[in-house]
This record gives sequence, C-alpha cells and structure tokens, in this order.
Amino acid sequence: MLDKIIVGDSIALIKEFPDKFVHAIISDIPYGICYDDWDIIHNNTNTALGGASVAQTEAGNVFKRRGKPLNGWSNSDKKIPLEYQQWCETWAPDWLRVLKPGGSCFIFAGRRYAHRCISALENCGFTFKDMLAWEKETAPHRAQRVSEIYKRRGDEESERKWSGWRVANLRPLFEPVLWFQKPYKTGATLADNILNYEVGAWNEEAMSEYNGRNNFLDEITQSNIIRIATEKSDRGLHETQKPLKLMELLVSLVTTKGAVVLDPFAGSGTTCVAAKNLGRHYIGIEINEKFAQIADERLSQTQMCRPDNDECNNRDFKNNDAHYNIQLRLDSIVG
Ligand SMILES: C[S@@+](CC[C@H](N)C(=O)[O-])C[C@H]1O[C@@H](n2cnc3c(N)ncnc32)[C@H](O)[C@@H]1O
Repeated sequence: MLDKIIVGDSIALIKEFPDKFVHAIISDIPYGICYDDWDIIHNNTNTALGGASVAQTEAGNVFKRRGKPLNGWSNSDKKIPLEYQQWCETWAPDWLRVLKPGGSCFIFAGRRYAHRCISALENCGFTFKDMLAWEKETAPHRAQRVSEIYKRRGDEESERKWSGWRVANLRPLFEPVLWFQKPYKTGATLADNILNYEVGAWNEEAMSEYNGRNNFLDEITQSNIIRIATEKSDRGLHETQKPLKLMELLVSLVTTKGAVVLDPFAGSGTTCVAAKNLGRHYIGIEINEKFAQIADERLSQTQMCRPDNDECNNRDFKNNDAHYNIQLRLDSIVG
C-alpha cells in the first residue's frame, strides 16, 4: 500500500487501513463550493449549484452570466454548509484512527466552509491547533459594480448614489490551511509521545529553509502566514493544483524522513510528489482515474530521497524537467 496512488473512494478505502499507521495526513479536500463536479458535496437537487431550481430554470442564460449567488437560489441551498460538515464527519473518524497519536493533519479548506470542517474534526476527536494562511500572489476576482446595473436599468439616481460600490468579495489572496493534531495519550507527555511515535513537534529547520529561500526578514520568520508563489511548473495538471514548494514545506514541517504521509484526496498527486522528494513514504487516494493517472506519471518521474541517503541535490531542476515531460504526455489524457 505504501508509495502508491490508489484509485477509489478514500472514505470507504481508509476503513481498511490499520490503526496508528500514518505520521501525517496532508490533503487539499473538496471545498464544497461546487467548483467542479467532484466538488459538489450536497445532496439537494433543488438548487442551481449542481441541480436545477425553479429560479435557475426561469433565469436561463441570465443565471450563467450571474454565476453562483452566495445566498443560493433556493432554501435548500442554505443547508449546504451543514451538509458539508456532515460530509466531513463521514471520513474524519477514520482519519483520526489511522493517524499516530500527536500526528498532524493539514487540510486546505475553503474560506466559506472552513469553520464547518473545523467543527467536524473537533466533533470527531481532533484538536484544532492553528490556522495557517497560504498567501498567493494572484487570484481571479470578479466584483461587479452595482452602479452598472442601475445604469443599464436607466435609474440615474441610484446609479449616482451607488457609484463606487461593488457586490461579491474582496480579492481572495489567501487560502486557509487548517492544522489539526491527534491528541496524545491523556496523562502522558508530548515529549514521550514524540519518542514513541516520532510526531508531535514541528521542524524549525524546515521553516528556516523556507525563510532563507525567500529572503524573509527576521521579524517574520516562523510566521503562520506562508507566502509561496505558484510557479509555471505548478500549473496545468489539476484545476486546484497546489504549489509543490508549499506541500514540501508542510511535509517537512511535521514529519521526519521515512515517515508515512497520506493524502486521501490526492488530485494530481502534489502532496505525494512532495513526500517522495523529501524521502517520506506516501499513500495517495484519488477517485478520478484521469487524475490518478496524472499523479502516477508525476511520481514515476520523481526520484525518492532515501531516508538514509539524501541524494536530492538539484531537486528543483529535476522536478521542472519532469513536469514538462509529463505535461507533453498528459495533454492526450486530459484531452
Ligand atoms: C482539491 S482536489 C486536490 C488537488 C491537489 N491538491 C493537486 O495539487 O492536484 C480534490 C480531489 O479529490 C478527489 N476526490 C473527491 N472525492 C473523493 C473521494 N471520495 N475519494 C478520493 N478522491 C476524491 C477529486 O477528484 C479531486 O481530484
């Protein structure tokens, strides 16, 4: 099972995993915001978000131009956040079970429903440790000027009054990374737990390397705001592909070489590539065969740094080179 991408539903498959088996779970889970088919978590069909509400049908093409309103198109849309939490509660107990005591779990969750994910994991026994912010350099942004609507309606008074006002959000330049920990034995010490399971602390050296690489000043070292840009080689394999350097930082922050890192929503396998690059074992689970194949291809091009023999000099060069080879071959798979 180690060092593989398993194709299938991780919610069912993880039930077969042994207890206290993995040192860390690092995953970019579906945010439940209906970004794509795989991101539709709710069950209600009376909704524009993955279904067909009366309002959507009546709106026709206007709906497509307006996009997805935050407050939904029907009353059942308002249950989506709760349904997201309930979905998180279907897998969180098994994540807790397979993680070693004191082990970390990093979850990328959307800003709108991150609180639901936190409540779900807390309900299932995790400790919510911190929230990191991954700060990006750019993010798509669409915030319509409300005065434009009044202008189109010929309502000059409202157009003047609401000039300079917009709807929708500010530019979404950060993504939360939720940091959970599996509680260690009550009455024991974390220091003993670290000796028993090799998890429970975070690695200062990993942060220093990241700070040094970015020339960050002393006053922001060890900050929980992580600034990592998306490079050219971080694009093109998955719609929500995460930067490899970001995943490497998270892997090296909470695991030692030889540890086992699990990603139950692996996508194009970025977490697993990061783990392999850094001499950790990995298990990726991905339900979509196309993405699983992409992840396999990436991993077959990635050289593992053996725990006892770190030969990964020039790693960045190797990764970029591998990315372009894979990209050429995957163009046909992705279609
Ligand atoms: C947000 S994406 C991960 C992208 C990843 N960070 C990357 O860099 O490529 C989440 C992935 O979870 C997969 N997925 C959704 N439900 C799943 C399930 N029950 N079991 C396994 N994978 C699932 C989706 O197909 C999607 O590729």
